Order: sequence, then structure tokens, then C-alpha cells
Amino acid sequence: MKDDSSATAPSWESLPALRADTPGCEQVIHFNNAGCGLLATPILQTMQAHLTLEARIGGYEAAAARAGEVREFYPELAALIGCGPDNIAFAGSATHAYATALSAIPFERGDVILTTRNDFVSNQLAFLSLRRRFGVDIVHAPDLPAGGVDVEAMALLMKVHRPRLVAATHIPTNSGLVQPVAEIGRHCRELDLLYLVDACQSVGQYPIDVEQIGCDLLTGTCRKFLRGPRGSGFLFVSDRFLRAGYEPLFIDMHGADWTAAGTYRPSATASRFEEWEFPYATVLGCVAAVRYARSVGIEAISRRTPELARRLRAGLDALPGVRALDQGNQLGALVTISIDGWQADEFKTALDARRINSALSFRRFAQFDFADKDVDWCLRLSPHYYNTDGEVSEVVAAIAELQATR
Ligand SMILES: Cc1ncc(COP(=O)(O)O)c(C=O)c1O
Repeated sequence: MKDDSSATAPSWESLPALRADTPGCEQVIHFNNAGCGLLATPILQTMQAHLTLEARIGGYEAAAARAGEVREFYPELAALIGCGPDNIAFAGSATHAYATALSAIPFERGDVILTTRNDFVSNQLAFLSLRRRFGVDIVHAPDLPAGGVDVEAMALLMKVHRPRLVAATHIPTNSGLVQPVAEIGRHCRELDLLYLVDACQSVGQYPIDVEQIGCDLLTGTCRKFLRGPRGSGFLFVSDRFLRAGYEPLFIDMHGADWTAAGTYRPSATASRFEEWEFPYATVLGCVAAVRYARSVGIEAISRRTPELARRLRAGLDALPGVRALDQGNQLGALVTISIDGWQADEFKTALDARRINSALSFRRFAQFDFADKDVDWCLRLSPHYYNTDGEVSEVVAAIAELQATR
């Protein structure tokens, strides 16, 4: 896999320095990185500096003054996921990037979207909306008994249905499952099928290489395991997809040139998927965040972060009344548990009071997965590399203590 070979991975002896760089570490035990990672000081300062510049000299003028650095968004993201700068588009969220990508595919009645039972909730809603409007069929590939999609069964469905689109979420929001997106991609390439990957929870946590995955499109955010700002997302668009002439349904004056009264020409690059208006401070924050992640070292992060989660999962699963729900051959840094005898909000509030950040997932986020696991809600804890073993123990102890009160 391509990775930050130019950057030297730190030994984790640098953990105190990385934590000192992260003001939030003094305030909370932040186990909600799958929601939003804690900002590191260089990222925060980058954004603050730009907002100050906007206030001082004007928003357009500040963008012009920092245009060179803003353009760094493309090579930085490209180096992170193994493509060229012209294959990257900025988006205001991963969901917006996903919807814009979907809008480029001229679905017709009877077209098949082949996906998994663990694709992200908003992606499933988008497919249902396409079904309602255009009459597409949605086919969900079955899971293996151990959890995670059955790739061989999915490949068979590809041959039977010749789907208009194959879509897979690398790590869903509702569990730590890591789906074999490169194996799925290999079948898509063999059959020349369009392939869209949601890498929202994996980017910044694992090395991502779009060539190895074999996708045409890939979406992500900068705010989660990349520790960038909220309100940021990106879309990878392959050369294949660009050359085939796909363009978003609502292209704007940034994505296309209005060449004459009745014609327009889409831009040659992935910028045809962007909008003219940019949150410049956010984009600069993303540049800083990707640089920061690459300097920490994505390979090193991908070893430490899931390992912290593994210890947390094991510690919690051993508690009475607590069940770790994550299933699959590979598990990432999202730890999901069910807890007997508690209401969802009540339990999260009790953790909030101890300054432990967590998140809740509900059946409506994961209709298939939660039905299979027979749960209506779960607590999600998602550590990152800057968390410590001590914090893992503290969270296990806190949950044991709370559980003992029931
Ligand atoms: C797997 C997955 N995909 C997509 C998204 C949506 O990202 P955004 O909120 O940036 O639209 C999320 C958010 O939690 C997610 O977990």
C-alpha cells in the first residue's frame, strides 16, 4: 500500500508530545474519534489565522493571499490515498461528496445497485431515494457467518445482475467491522463495474490506496480519524470515470465553463464535482490535518489505533451485562457494546459526567446489523493513537462501576 514513506513514523515515545499538541486531552477522555477527532494545535492555529486574515483584509482577498496553500489540499489528499491531485475534489461533507458522485450516474428503471448490509445509513437512504424516484433495484450481498460481507457471494451477484453500481463502506458507523473493499474491487475491475467506496471511518485510521482498492469513486471526511475540521469531506474520482464524461447533475460555475448561451464544458478534473464556494479556513485546516496525520505516520497509526480498540473491546466484553457487538475478520477502532439495564441517553449522560466522550448508535442507523444482533441501540467508543492505555483502563473501570449500580 502507498503510504507516507517520506515521513518518518514516530516511536510512540512521542505520545506525550502528540498529546501536548492536543488541548482536548487535558479536558476529556475522547473516545469519539469516529464522530470527530480532537483537533491538534497546528490545525486549530491554521484555521484561526485564516479567519483572522479574512476579518482583517476580506474573505476574497484572504483566499487570494493564501491561494497557493489552499491548492495544497489536492496533492496532500492525493498522496494520502494514492492518486493524482486532479482526482481529488473538496466537499462540505462525506455525504455531500457521496450524493454528488451518485448524481453523476444516469440511473434508469431496473438498474441494480449492489451493496452490503453494512453500508452507511445515509448511503442506504440515498439508494432508497433512487429506488423511489428512478425505480432502481437495490441488492444487498449476504454476510459471512463470522460477520462482514461474503465477497464470493457478492461476486456472484455481480455476474448475475451486472449492477450499474457496486457500493461498499470500508468501516460502517455502527461497528468496528472492516470490509474487504480491495477484494470487492478486484471483482469489479474484472467485470468492469462502477465501484464506489465510502472510506469515511477508515481514512486516517488505515492506509488507503485507491489503486489497490480498484474503485472509481471514494468518499471520506477530514474530521474523524484525520483529526481535521468539521464541515469537510472529499471525493476521489478516477481518471476512468472522468474520461467517460460523468459529471454531477448540478454542476456549477466552478465545475464547468458556460461556453455559449446554450452550452457548457465540464472541467477536465475532479473539480467538476466541487462547488464555487469554499470554506477556506476549513480547507486550510484539512491541509494541516492531512500533513499532521502523514507526519505521525498512517502505518504506525493503523497498528496502534485498532490495538487500543482491541484492548478496550476485550476489557468491556469481560464485564457482566456488557456485550461487545463487533463482528468480522478484521476490526478497527470502533468499539460497540450493548449494556443491560440502561436506557441509551441515560448511560451516555453518565459517561459525559465523567468526561468520557462516546456516541450512541440506534437501530435506525443500521437496520440490518442491529436486527441481526438483536439490539435497538449501542454505545460506541472510538479511541485514536493519541489515547493511552491508562485511558482504556479508566473507561473500562468507569463502565464496570456504572454497571455495578444496576
Ligand atoms: C461510514 C460513514 N460514512 C459516511 C459518513 C458521513 O459523513 P459526513 O457526516 O461527513 O457526511 C459517516 C459519518 O459518521 C460514516 O460513519
